[in-house]
Amino acid sequence: MKLTRRNFIKQGIGAAALSLVPAPYSFAMAQDGFLEIRAIKSEQKIYPGDAPESTLWTYNGQAPGPEIRVKQGERVKVRFINELEEPSSIHWHGIRIDNAMDGVSGLTQEAVKPGERFEYEFVVPDAGTYWYHAHNKSWNQVARGLYGPLIVEEPYPTFDAEHDLTLVIDDWRVDRNGQLDEQSFGAMMDWSHGGRLGNWLTVNGGSMPEIVLKAGEAYRLRLINVCNSRVLEMDLNRLGAKVLAFDGQPLGQPEVIDYSPYSFGPAQRVDLLVIPQEGKGFALEELSGDTPFPYAHFKVTGTGGNKTSIPSLKPNAIPAPDLEKASQHRLHMTGGAMGRIGKVFYKGKELQGEDFRRTKQFWAFNSVANLSESPFFSAEIGETVIIEFINDTAFPHAMHVHGHHFQILEREDSEIDEGRPWKDTFLIGPTQTTRIAFVADNPGKWLLHCHMLEHAAAGMTTWFKVT
Ligand code: C2O
Ligand code: CU
Repeated sequence: MKLTRRNFIKQGIGAAALSLVPAPYSFAMAQDGFLEIRAIKSEQKIYPGDAPESTLWTYNGQAPGPEIRVKQGERVKVRFINELEEPSSIHWHGIRIDNAMDGVSGLTQEAVKPGERFEYEFVVPDAGTYWYHAHNKSWNQVARGLYGPLIVEEPYPTFDAEHDLTLVIDDWRVDRNGQLDEQSFGAMMDWSHGGRLGNWLTVNGGSMPEIVLKAGEAYRLRLINVCNSRVLEMDLNRLGAKVLAFDGQPLGQPEVIDYSPYSFGPAQRVDLLVIPQEGKGFALEELSGDTPFPYAHFKVTGTGGNKTSIPSLKPNAIPAPDLEKASQHRLHMTGGAMGRIGKVFYKGKELQGEDFRRTKQFWAFNSVANLSESPFFSAEIGETVIIEFINDTAFPHAMHVHGHHFQILEREDSEIDEGRPWKDTFLIGPTQTTRIAFVADNPGKWLLHCHMLEHAAAGMTTWFKVT
């Protein structure tokens, strides 16, 4: 499904005023210092006009869940209480975390059963923009609203609360009444093609919010793409924006992205520096459709009399790869519609004929679909790892490495990674090859998967071990 105006109900869409000032810890803190996060069903209006509220799965009654804001180096303590009817767990995306707290059902912990709870406790080593989301049947649970922002503040003064805005972008697949399209959950068509794409975009859970900024003042906009599978296409120049950070990790200097569209993949974050000009409002627009589709408006007030200075962000201490001594691994990505998949092993058995439809395993990494007993590779603590991803499919993918940030060494036919920014998720184009490097410095079992959540469920998931 493409995001085009035709897919939307034609009606006057009034801009809903939305308070964007973060409310740190806007939820129950138990006596013992644990923040309580409950997964519960709740009603929320995500569609404009007269549409009724939609039934979502949320953290503490709202999607996105409450913004967790902590200082770099602090300990986060969260008591997760599962009040849904199916097991769940929480993953802290992009945090270089203690493996036992990574929240991956079936790899680092048992999924938390309905009515049960799990205590997460970890230290946040890097300042920046991160997020948390369900990591059991994510294709279902994240699509229904189980996600929230996790902001790690720098230990020095930067943008104050008024100039530091989190914008969580989601696409929902809804019917004409704004209800989640239930029938299409798990659709074979999505799993074998581009994933579950929505037909309605929200920012911080609201339709078409209007955000008021003051002219001449410097803002940090923290964009988080929580879509199941949509690569948001945007033009950063039209926003007059520079990039401060990718995936939480600051660039040396705020950078102009001179190409358009900028492809913003599922699970990625980008921190933008925006200094609005007097009288020049602008919009966030999705550019993948036939015509640009605006989904958030920025109104600019004031005359910009008193200019603000631009705070600079210091890099986090991520170990630099030693490319000379690196171990090399290759990930051959196959499958999907219009692609070839070759031999596929799933749970130790080779799939044949009808097995593909029955198991819904349409993709594979090195001929293995989904988690197997043996890891993709093992590394010793401190070892530099280079992974070559060969995307032998007709689709783009959003590749995510758990527990580590990496640098892109080279990306076939592209120069956009100049300066080798740190990322935890990167987009790889159809038939493209990309090499990444990182120091495997965190012991444990780490997932590596496509963050197009249907692809992950349909085979594009593996893991590696650091010991
Ligand atoms: Cu954000 Cu394994 O995921
Ligand atoms: Cu994918």
